[in-house]
Amino acid sequence: MPVVVVVGAQWGDEGKGKVVDLYAQHADVVTRYGGGANAGHTLVVGGERIVLHLVPSGALHARTRCVIGQGVVVDPQVLLSELGVLRGRGLLDTPRVFMSDRAHVVLPHHRHIDELRERGRAAIGTTKRGIGPAYEDKAGRRGIRTGDLLDATRLAERVRDNLAAWEPVIRGLGGECPEVGPIVETLLAQGEALRDHITDASRMLTEAIGRGEKVLLEGAQGTMLDIDHGTYPYVTSSNVIAGGACAGAGIPPTAVDAVVGITKAYTTRVGGGPFPTELLGAEGEALREAGSEYGATTGRPRRCGWLDAAVVRFSARINGLRELALTKLDVLGGLQELRICTGYERDGIMFDEPPHDGLDRLVPVYETLPGWSGDLSACRRVEELPDNARRYVNRIAELTGCPVGVVSVGADREQTLRGGDPFAR
Ligand code: IMP
Repeated sequence: MPVVVVVGAQWGDEGKGKVVDLYAQHADVVTRYGGGANAGHTLVVGGERIVLHLVPSGALHARTRCVIGQGVVVDPQVLLSELGVLRGRGLLDTPRVFMSDRAHVVLPHHRHIDELRERGRAAIGTTKRGIGPAYEDKAGRRGIRTGDLLDATRLAERVRDNLAAWEPVIRGLGGECPEVGPIVETLLAQGEALRDHITDASRMLTEAIGRGEKVLLEGAQGTMLDIDHGTYPYVTSSNVIAGGACAGAGIPPTAVDAVVGITKAYTTRVGGGPFPTELLGAEGEALREAGSEYGATTGRPRRCGWLDAAVVRFSARINGLRELALTKLDVLGGLQELRICTGYERDGIMFDEPPHDGLDRLVPVYETLPGWSGDLSACRRVEELPDNARRYVNRIAELTGCPVGVVSVGADREQTLRGGDPFAR
């Protein structure tokens, strides 16, 4: 089982950072395959909290190589600051963070455009990290790739053409169009600082797989934010699903052995868009406080609701999940009853997966389960969980058709039941 994909099964923020960090101790290489600095993967080690936006969550294991694939859009400033943090902790003494020479660069005006659009009618609640405009440039064939940062003449030409394309848009949005010169100067300096990290990542990965090394492919965001399969248009601009891992990392589909889906024991989402099981009012507020549900990237309060098993069932199907890693089970302690959404009803029609539109009119069908009291965060084995917590976990497996492997009862590495080696099965 040398290649395993880890993917978010909901709307992101499922706790992928913790699970990837846990799995990474068994991996030789950890690779990000999509998204950009819109992601915020929180790791808590020995009580200390570290948030990574671009560098894969394997970075805290000194022997693991970390690769940013060409499906990622890279903000060089963010990457340089994360590398600085890792270097400061003595975690970069050997060269082990690499980035594809084909990964597209998030330019300063991408952020500016993202921010300007979010002030207008078409706002969807993005992270304002310039992700959408960067992917637009990629699809529009006018993007700048990290490899371009190492060639001054080519870079100046491409930035000039790029800005010429965006200028009317920026002006139309009431913004200021930046000058070419300073952007090129900054990018060249960043390219120089990143020179040793820029490489042919696809080749590096396929060669590692050929040697039988264990490779973990780390998804960002969640399945319901996938540009093709999520709650469009309230989605991010990349393929989040496991199917995107091969294109984003540059490895063949036949190389992937298994996919693990991360799901929270309840549901959250940030930004706009439909959320059938959302709890508005005091119940949602209580869940937000109990789970500290505030965005790792933007600090925004996350919308909270009951577990939507129809969403996870859909994720299991579209990602081909071998198993689920269930996070934040401890947060649900103390509730009298818990509800799980098993499907939806709309105008007399039943749905067992989210349909392509009209999600805001879906009425969730709930099943109610008894809650449990007491603190789960000290549990280390599934057998130590209260009966009702175990029943809840088992019911999730039944409703989604996907066995639950890892169960997480706290942010720390230690607070994990059935951790284990994902490559070993
Ligand atoms: P963008 O990716 O910044 O363009 O944002 C598009 C949508 O995806 C917005 O609803 C964001 O809140 C959401 N989003 C992007 N990245 C994440 C993430 O890492 N976790 C949760 N939501 C995200």
